[in-house]
Amino acid sequence: MSDKPLGMNNGLTNYGDLDFARFLRRSFARSMGISREMLDKPVVGIAMTPSGFNNCHRYMPDLVDAVCRGVLAAGALPRPFPTVSLGEVFLNPTSMMYRNLMAMDTEEMIGAQPMDSVVLIGGCDKTVPAQLMGAVSANLPTIQLVTGPMSTGRYKGQRLGACTDCRGFWAKYRAGSIDSREIKAVEGQLSVTAGTCAVMGTASTMACIAETLGMSLPGTAAIPAVHADRLVAAEETGKAAVRLAHSKITPSDVITLKSIENALRVLLSVGGSTNAVMHLAAIAGRLGIRIPFSRFNQLSDETPVLVDLKPAGEGYMEDFHAAGGMGALLRELRPFLHLDTIDVEGRRLDERLAEPLAWIDRAVIRSLDNPVAGVGGLVALTGNLAPQGAIFKRAAATASLFESEGRAVVFSGLEDLSRRIDDPDLDVRPDDILVLQNAGPYAAGMPEAGYLPIPKKLARAGVKDMVRISDARMSGTAFGSIVLHVAPEAAVGGPLAAVRNGDRIRLSIANKSMDLLVDDAEIKRRLADHRPPLVPARGYKSLYGRTVLQAPDGCDFDFLTRNGTR
Ligand code: FES
Ligand code: MG
Repeated sequence: MSDKPLGMNNGLTNYGDLDFARFLRRSFARSMGISREMLDKPVVGIAMTPSGFNNCHRYMPDLVDAVCRGVLAAGALPRPFPTVSLGEVFLNPTSMMYRNLMAMDTEEMIGAQPMDSVVLIGGCDKTVPAQLMGAVSANLPTIQLVTGPMSTGRYKGQRLGACTDCRGFWAKYRAGSIDSREIKAVEGQLSVTAGTCAVMGTASTMACIAETLGMSLPGTAAIPAVHADRLVAAEETGKAAVRLAHSKITPSDVITLKSIENALRVLLSVGGSTNAVMHLAAIAGRLGIRIPFSRFNQLSDETPVLVDLKPAGEGYMEDFHAAGGMGALLRELRPFLHLDTIDVEGRRLDERLAEPLAWIDRAVIRSLDNPVAGVGGLVALTGNLAPQGAIFKRAAATASLFESEGRAVVFSGLEDLSRRIDDPDLDVRPDDILVLQNAGPYAAGMPEAGYLPIPKKLARAGVKDMVRISDARMSGTAFGSIVLHVAPEAAVGGPLAAVRNGDRIRLSIANKSMDLLVDDAEIKRRLADHRPPLVPARGYKSLYGRTVLQAPDGCDFDFLTRNGTR
């Protein structure tokens, strides 16, 4: 890489007449109305992700404008370009299936087009991980901007935010405690502004992680989508991208074992999304970095939950921002962090945290001596039912179910679950353990089906939580005593496929274990003639089925994790 930004000469083909290639590029740029003077400046690419199917990115045009303003003010040429956009609730069978497609699109468009640095603008659940995965592999100087969280709505004086309250109200409706008129009224008050889900779900967790890694400007993760400061942050991000074009610090300098451990500490202390464990594994995997579950559990046992937000606690992202946001949290977590990590501008974390904060709202961001919980929000489980691990969000679970032994009630797949879960004749009791098979990455693209509904007849009798186990994911905004990401998944012959109705399962959060109480020889016998389902013959789904990895490897494609960076 040369010392000076190459501007429009970046990525010129290296065959034929190079002067002609430059001449051609300039003349086509002219057709976009760009003066010759501007063409000699550094170029900042802006990966933008607006879509009529992505409500969370509704203000994308305003953000792109503000980034462009910053880039121009700092003396470079902004060039927005589109990539795939993933609006969480509009994608079938699941957005997770397309995260790697977006990562590939992002990587390839950064690499193929002439730019000296890049601003990534994303927000909704899969978009930030996809952009970071792509950027790590493209390895051009990069900065992330998030769209910011939604503000809350109101219903009969109660604040509502997507999507923890969506689930809370729907559970009441299923249990018969509210009627169809009321659920209809609530529907219109859950998602009332642009921006990502209003709680500490996957999108907000990933925004906090991007800032902790050093990939976004300090203090920007939690600014509400509709706040003027969000546009100011966009403008500042544009200016920073121009500085990056000169400094040449790339994601592989910023995302290291140490910054990933810092990100895990933050994930654990915000009571963040289970999905973030997988996305971080995928980002790290692009650099050949792997954090074993034993280390993850060590971090979790040391790191208290400090942030009191839904789904694990009480508040919304707007409260977190007003309370001091990531600046306050990182200062509180200081004793746990590697302070010699750098951000995209080369600033060390201890420099970023040197200024003391004027004020912190202690109702939302607690101090280390008065945490929400003494241990981190997530734990990894192993045992004969999950030899390669599973994830449990203890911060959003019922403590009385942490040490459980129960009878398995098994659903063989997504259709079986939909067909039978509300069957009045289903043989199920409150102390049973619900098991869903064949909803993992290979079988089904790993949908958010791990939040199995409480069977209607039990919900109506007042049962609010049960132990549920699957190889699926759950939404970062969901809650309950739910074991997820069981690996290997049932469809590839993991022991989850061997569970039969009536088997007994033991869960122990204290021992971080989950076991099928059936002897090994019998498990082996049941799995002996297991065959994985066929991979689709054509198209992206064929590529997906042939190459997707299991959850502990972040469900990346095998060929994208090889060889680290370019
Ligand atoms: Fe986009 Fe929740 S639907 S963040
Ligand atoms: Mg979500």
